Amino acid sequence: MKILFFGDVFGKPGRELLLQELSKLRWEFEADFVIINAENLADGRGITEKVAKSLWSAGVDAMTSGNHLWDREEAIEYIIKEKRLVRPLNYPFNTPGNMLCRLEKNQHRLDLICLTGQIFMPPCDSAFHAFDEFMTRRSEREVSLLVDFHAESTAEKRALAWHLDGKVAALVGTHTHIQTADAEIMPQGTAYITDVGMTGAHDSVIGVKKHIVLERFHTNVPHRFETSDRGLMINAVWIELDDQTGKAIKIKNIRRKQELI
Ligand SMILES: [Fe+2]
Ligand SMILES: [Fe+2]
Repeated sequence: MKILFFGDVFGKPGRELLLQELSKLRWEFEADFVIINAENLADGRGITEKVAKSLWSAGVDAMTSGNHLWDREEAIEYIIKEKRLVRPLNYPFNTPGNMLCRLEKNQHRLDLICLTGQIFMPPCDSAFHAFDEFMTRRSEREVSLLVDFHAESTAEKRALAWHLDGKVAALVGTHTHIQTADAEIMPQGTAYITDVGMTGAHDSVIGVKKHIVLERFHTNVPHRFETSDRGLMINAVWIELDDQTGKAIKIKNIRRKQELI
């Protein structure tokens, strides 16, 4: 089984880049499943049904999320009804959204969950405890599991990687919007990267026009953030799982500059 996972797709520039490149990348990497982190799809803040629709039509199979998922009140009903979109598992029980997505295609099955970190992030339960509790309830353990760990702290991500090694097929980090250079197969067969990075405009500060963020740091005066459209780049990982064991055998980071045609 081959999986393409795109890190935080940011705003219109990120969406348009993905729409332009997805079919080529899917063919190049022979991907069975395409998954994206969708917390910044709508102008950097949350998701809407309309923007999600365009990506489903382009061949995205599932979406993970994070702390920005609920930024748009008008999308709450959609977040509840869209079964291909997962919200963080370790948020309060009544938080809107689905916690598990199962993908089935080409004789392959893949389960998908998302967790958030506790360090420099909005309050949530421990990702470690939430994962352990999830596993005690999980019956179909033969189905491979991919976890998006949406977190700021590299230490928290790395620690969770050791906790999950051998228990999940892949643990991919998101949220920082900066790709890390540490993609590896852990000793017990889990594919891991601390952060997949951002698909969007990198001539920016994590997706936002840089002069606005600089002004904020210089003055502490808040200004409305605007999405940058310069320096577009795909940030993703490609993961291959062994069809017999379900364990990961390859992970490759993808980091490509590409302008819109
Ligand atoms: Fe993000
Ligand atoms: Fe985030």
